[in-house]
Amino acid sequence: MDLGISGKQGIVCGASQGLGLACARALAGEGVSLTLIARNSEPLQAAVDNLSQLSSAEITSVVGDITTDAGRDAVLQACPKPDILINNAGGPPPGDFRDWRQKDWFDAVNSNMFSAIDMIRRTLDGMAERGFGRIVNITSTAVKSPMPGLGLSNGARAGLTGWVAGVAREKVRDNVTINNLLPGLFATDRGRGYLAYRAAQEGVSGEAYEQQFYATSPAGRLGDPEEFGATCAFLCSAMSGYMSGQNILLDGGVYSGTY
Ligand SMILES: NC(=O)c1ccc[n+]([C@@H]2O[C@H](COP(=O)([O-])OP(=O)(O)OC[C@H]3O[C@@H](n4cnc5c(N)ncnc54)[C@H](OP(=O)(O)O)[C@@H]3O)[C@@H](O)[C@H]2O)c1
Repeated sequence: MDLGISGKQGIVCGASQGLGLACARALAGEGVSLTLIARNSEPLQAAVDNLSQLSSAEITSVVGDITTDAGRDAVLQACPKPDILINNAGGPPPGDFRDWRQKDWFDAVNSNMFSAIDMIRRTLDGMAERGFGRIVNITSTAVKSPMPGLGLSNGARAGLTGWVAGVAREKVRDNVTINNLLPGLFATDRGRGYLAYRAAQEGVSGEAYEQQFYATSPAGRLGDPEEFGATCAFLCSAMSGYMSGQNILLDGGVYSGTY
């Protein structure tokens, strides 16, 4: 299927590995020119080199922290008129709410709520004026069903989800959509790190906890980041213009709610 986005310009945040990189790979495969951002230069350059081999589209990068004004300035200087924006940053650390103070909460809200809001603030109206925009926020299954130990993520991402529900309606008639992609557990550093944290909490080995997860998950496995990237590319496609404000869950069927 031709997604109709060849030649578009895109920004992918948190793109040197994991789900962000998978989204970048799928978009590059569709001929989208990309600007990637992450904090560590070596893996970021490796990602650029890898994507450049897969695609003739231009792939550039900015070393920076998307949770800072300076990082957001730099990525928008490199790509001032994005057609596609994938908002993503690292997830907050796990722990117990009794140990979290104001700074812990402010950091989580900054990373997993405000950074995406500020990128949308800076790009939405330009997309509307140009008549095309696709914004995808990588959030978490936590917004549908809280994840044990991840209270900072559960709270901050719920805030982003509530705000997006409103703004996602503003520019749909100008062909700008905003949707959230909710990962369940995926085979990335973050996904495996969470499994290791849960194993330690339960007092079992990582291997034993993973087997327990596989036994209870309907899919019986972790998600493949490429599956996530492909869904992201569809949400960025020319034919997804009638879909905005949705929370798309990819979790192998773990969440068992009807809606
Ligand atoms: N994987 C899962 O199972 C899962 C489940 C639910 C939710 N999530 C959420 O989905 C998001 C992506 O997860 P993932 O599994 O892809 O994580 P990951 O494998 O740890 O990759 C995170 C990527 O984001 C970059 N990054 C982190 N903080 C950044 C910052 N402040 N500025 C710019 N780049 C930053 C990292 O590079 P640098 O460190 O070099 O900056 C890396 O490229 C996270 O928010 C995570 O909490 C993941």
